[in-house]
Amino acid sequence: ARDASYEGAIPKRLSEVAAGVNLCRRCELWRDATQGVPGEGAEHAPLMFVGEQPGDQEDLSGHPFVGPAGRMFDKALAEAGVPRDRTFVTNAVKHFKHELRGKRRLHKTPDRGEVMSCRWWLDAERRLLRPRVVVMLGATAALGVIGEPTPIAANRGKPLRLSDREQGLVTYHPSFLLRLPDETKKAQAYAAFVADLRQAGRLAG
Ligand code: URA
Repeated sequence: ARDASYEGAIPKRLSEVAAGVNLCRRCELWRDATQGVPGEGAEHAPLMFVGEQPGDQEDLSGHPFVGPAGRMFDKALAEAGVPRDRTFVTNAVKHFKHELRGKRRLHKTPDRGEVMSCRWWLDAERRLLRPRVVVMLGATAALGVIGEPTPIAANRGKPLRLSDREQGLVTYHPSFLLRLPDETKKAQAYAAFVADLRQAGRLAG
């Protein structure tokens, strides 16, 4: 049910963000989603990873990055030598946007208005976690974090200052890597992705 009194309250803990996203009515995406999917990870993680939005499996389980993109992300993180207990993983948009094709639920990219509405939650997560480095996985993540369109290919791997205490790093979205049809290009992009994650680990100290 809608809890209007909760909706405006500024979350003071990450657990309140988790409860809040599930009640959120700031945009319409909640209508077709199973549940809101908040960020998850170590309480004082120095590294925050921001994806686009939950996919089919994330929507059903309530946890971020547990489907195919999540498995690729886990593998790349391990190869980059970044321990899980230094990370917090979230999304720019907390509800699964999709369209029905028969029985399948096909991913749809969230629009700018949805990303901007959901920034309220992403900003709360950043404020409460206080990460040293925010890694943006793809264009929707970059829009959610930076607030304006940021082309990935031209900006990836270059650290940028987001605030007094946060550095930002833009890189590919794991789903983009999974979809690349050319095996050589896929291997190159994957290697660049792992290098970006390694750099993020170094920046986080
Ligand atoms: N893709 C994302 O961007 N986030 C998830 O949580 C899963 C897939």
